[in-house]
Amino acid sequence: MSDGMFAVTNPRSPSDTQYSACNITHRRNSTVLNPRSYVNSQLWTQAPILIGTTKFDPLPDVRNIMVTGGAGFIACWFVRHLTLTYPDDYNVVSFDKLDYCATLNNTRVLDDCPNFTFEHGDITSPMDVKKCLRKHNIDTIFHFAAQSHVDLSFGNSYQFTNTNVYGTHVLLERARAHGVSRFIHISTDEVYGDVPMDADDLSETSLLAPTNPYSASKAAAEMMVNAYRKSFKLPVITVRSNNVYGPHQFPEKIIPKFILLLQRRSKLVVHGDGTPTRRYLYAGDIVDALDTIFHKGVIGQIYNIASKDEISNIDLCHQLLEIFGLPHSTPEELSLWVRHTEDRPFNDHRYATDGTKLAALGWYPKTTFEDGLRVTVEWYRRFGEVWWGDIGRILTSFPVVAGNEIWTKEEHEALPSDGELGPEENRTMWTKKALNNLQASGGTV
Ligand SMILES: NC(=O)c1ccc[n+]([C@@H]2O[C@H](COP(=O)([O-])OP(=O)(O)OC[C@H]3O[C@@H](n4cnc5c(N)ncnc54)[C@H](O)[C@@H]3O)[C@@H](O)[C@H]2O)c1
Repeated sequence: MSDGMFAVTNPRSPSDTQYSACNITHRRNSTVLNPRSYVNSQLWTQAPILIGTTKFDPLPDVRNIMVTGGAGFIACWFVRHLTLTYPDDYNVVSFDKLDYCATLNNTRVLDDCPNFTFEHGDITSPMDVKKCLRKHNIDTIFHFAAQSHVDLSFGNSYQFTNTNVYGTHVLLERARAHGVSRFIHISTDEVYGDVPMDADDLSETSLLAPTNPYSASKAAAEMMVNAYRKSFKLPVITVRSNNVYGPHQFPEKIIPKFILLLQRRSKLVVHGDGTPTRRYLYAGDIVDALDTIFHKGVIGQIYNIASKDEISNIDLCHQLLEIFGLPHSTPEELSLWVRHTEDRPFNDHRYATDGTKLAALGWYPKTTFEDGLRVTVEWYRRFGEVWWGDIGRILTSFPVVAGNEIWTKEEHEALPSDGELGPEENRTMWTKKALNNLQASGGTV
């Protein structure tokens, strides 16, 4: 384990290794995931407690921190880090709607910590947000909550606009009305769009040119964040991170999905020719970056969180096959484990951001991709099959998700379509929901 991967030993480790069946509801041909179902405590207590490595002098004007999306992947790492690294300095409130990709297993280790609270709430509800801000006297917001899976955004893009744009707007407006000393907004390198192979890495002042509904919604959210900075002097910092991987990531994303497929001895399904690359950061490293920006960053600034580990999807397959000890050096061997399928409607070939500005604050990634991948494979081998419940349908090629219900593409296509809404009706519903929220909040969203 490199110094970038800090695991606190869980004091409650029993010897029994039994796996439990999670609460899974099957209806029609689908799976409904229950983010509240805990894995068998005998297994859970063996899970390493994964946090970052940094610790700074606490900020005197910060006491109560709200972290949106705290039961999801990156935010759960950050919530564990803040709660356990600053037990006497910061109270941490994880605010999450518990969407299909969330699980309370991610923060269960904190349940007995006096400086940790979980609040079930939706960022698109001004009332939920207002209640949380007041109840906990919040002075700082870290905003992670989002619809985060690009593939789903091609089929369900309204949900992405609703959560990522409208939800961010609600949070900003509520933060303004309540008054906070810091609002840290988590964005992505995808807002810059595709970067050609021979182009320079992009700095924070580069133009935003998103190309898919997910990245467009994140860029739109950034516009709103910037507007609140300008119009209302809201003390915001925006961060744009490369792809993040590591334990606790929901297995819809490429690395955990491929690990679990190989674990099941199933073929890896690669979109298109597999040549698009991504730069990857280990989760412990982004936690350190966020901790650094929180304690040393300048209000009003934007920071790229950048890695140099650029890997193509097909190279990722090779690396994982190597770890699993599966022969892959000839085309025949590779074809036993890798199948190419239709590509996304549009797939950015690569993203490339420059991290000089953050490096000046003293941060650098400590975990090599090789080490991070090894630790990640190990974690998914032990916990991946049970951490979220029945993830079988998520591991299929183009699963469809609505709320917490998941279908395979084929099952969803076979569903009767009479319940479907046309775009016009869908728009009306969305407006009605926004109006209901407005009324619930006393007219001042
Ligand atoms: N994963 C990456 O590689 C990556 C890279 C760069 C930036 N980001 C950004 O980081 C953030 C976190 O990404 P992640 O991959 O950890 O996400 P995730 O999908 O694992 O978690 C998202 C969390 O947000 C919650 N959520 C969704 N809608 C909500 C709502 N309306 N109200 C309250 N909670 C809600 C979900 O329940 C879930 O717990 C996102 O903003 C994403 O755009 C992610």
